Formats: sequence, structure tokens, C-alpha cells
Amino acid sequence: MKGIVLAGGTGSRLAPMTSVVCKQLLPVYDKPMIYYPISVLMQAGITDLLIISTPAALPLICELLGDGSRLGLSVSYAEQEEPRGIADAFLVGEKYLSDSPAALILGDNLFAGDELPALLWGARRTVESGAAGAVLFGREVSDPRRYAVAAFDARGAVTDLVEKPADPPSACAVTGVYFYDADVVEMARRVRPSARGELEITDLNRFYLERGDVRLVGLGEGCVWHDMGTPASLLEAGHLVRAWDERGTRVGCLEEIALRMGFIDADTCAAAGLRMKSSPYGRHLLEFATQWAG
Ligand code: DAU
Repeated sequence: MKGIVLAGGTGSRLAPMTSVVCKQLLPVYDKPMIYYPISVLMQAGITDLLIISTPAALPLICELLGDGSRLGLSVSYAEQEEPRGIADAFLVGEKYLSDSPAALILGDNLFAGDELPALLWGARRTVESGAAGAVLFGREVSDPRRYAVAAFDARGAVTDLVEKPADPPSACAVTGVYFYDADVVEMARRVRPSARGELEITDLNRFYLERGDVRLVGLGEGCVWHDMGTPASLLEAGHLVRAWDERGTRVGCLEEIALRMGFIDADTCAAAGLRMKSSPYGRHLLEFATQWAG
């Protein structure tokens, strides 16, 4: 399975922070925002990643991550010249995907929690085995109007998905990580621009729903989901990451995950730690690599 991180857009809700720096490179506590979505795909065992961003931001993201080899990953890059919508990721990424199943994550979504790896692996297995064409993750929220929202029948089956509804049919928001089978590019080609001129991910998901092929997995208490697209949510995300950190759990620590997942060895993790030894992040990598090797 291949992974796509969609990290473009205008970041207009974060101006002037995003006047010269793209949103996904802004700091969230101790690391750039894009580390968090990448860490999610890595926890699903995905090592082949495509990062999509704007022509202005892509060289900076590329400088940060390179070809991914220091993390045991293979990272490719593609430009999205205009923010044509989230479903456009599959058109931009068509050649890269070359008929592979795919996971897509939005560059401003943070997920964490002990239950997360099992849920991600479950989603991956579900689409790879053909048990469902699309796996989405739902979460009860207090302000569903900001998100895609699922409608359910009396038995709890999903009957519809609505993007930013004025009158939400439920409080279950569809989060920003999605798993699809190899038909996803073909499905994305069928999506037409919405009233706001975007290729909506929700329209793509509705095509799968019409095919009776969507599984919506609820994120339980053991999982945190946070979008980081507004000044307040960005700050809150930083506080959350710091609070975990102080409890001894590093969220979005790519080298640690790479070592745990077997993508790199302890020496490579320690070398990354050495390069950053003046920061708490670097010192953590050194300690973790030593612990792991011992
Ligand atoms: O956070 C989950 C929600 O994300 C979902 O519930 C919604 O269905 C989905 O549409 C999306 O809503 P947002 O209002 O948060 O989408 P936004 O336009 O902010 O885009 C999300 C991220 O994707 C953001 O980091 C920018 C990036 N993006 C977005 C578009 C439209 C791109 O890179 N290119 C694009 O064309």
C-alpha cells in the first residue's frame, strides 16, 4: 500500500503565520506539523509515501525529509499548482499510485493514541483483502458543521456522507485519514467540482458508499484526533503534544516510530539523535536508540 500526505492549500485560516511559511511546516510543540500525519502512515506500515504540496512549499518540505531514506522510507513529491480539492490528490498522484491501494492523510490532521496502530492496520487489511473499498474513521464532535458528517439508519449503517452540512444529520465527523482500494483514481476521476469549486473527498467517498463499499470505523476514547487548521486548534495541538511528552509518550517522533517498525536500525536512530543533540527531540532519540539496542 502507498501513502499520500496532502500538504498544500493556502493556509488562509492561519494568516499571517502562513504568509511566508506553509502551514504544514509550522511548529506543533517540538516538530513541524507534517511529522504528525507522516507518523500515522508509518504506523500503518506504509513506507512508500508521496507528499503533495504547493510549488512554493515543496522545495522546503523536500529539504526537510529528502528521499526519506534516513527514516527507512521512500518519499516522492508532487506539486498541486492550485488547491483544487482533496480528491485531486488522486489525480495528482495517479502515476505514482499506478493501481496500488492507497491511504491518504491530510497534512493538518493529528492522530494519536494506543489504539491507533491496530485501527490503522485493520483499515489497511480491510482494503487490501477486498473486504471494503474504502475505510473512513469517524469521531463524535461538538461542532460537526466544520467537517464531513455521516448519516446513519436505525441499525447504525451509514446511509450518507455530507460535507460541512448546515444541518448535521449526526455528530459523527469523518476525519482526515482515508484508506482506499486500487479503484480510487478511477473514482476520483468521476468527482466534479462542488459549489465551492473543489473536488470534494466526500463526493469520492459517496461513490464508494453508492457501491455499498464503505466501512466507517469509530475512533474510541483511546484515540485522539485534532485538526490543526486554525490558530486555536494549532495551539491546542501543541499543548496536547507537550502533555503527552511530559507523560513519556512522544507523538509524531518519526525516527522512534521508524525504529519500532523496523524501518531503520538503532544506529541510524542514534545518528539522527546526534545531529540534533542540542534539542530535547534529539536527546530523546539518543536515549531511545540506546534503550532499544540494550
Ligand atoms: O479534518 C477533516 C476534514 O477535512 C473532513 O471532515 C472534511 O470532509 C474535509 O473536506 C476536510 O475539511 P477541511 O475544511 O479541514 O479541509 P481543508 O480545505 O482545510 O483542507 C485540509 C487540508 O488539505 C489542508 O491541510 C490543506 C490541504 N489541501 C486542501 C485542499 C482543498 C490541499 O493540500 N489541497 C487542496 O486542494
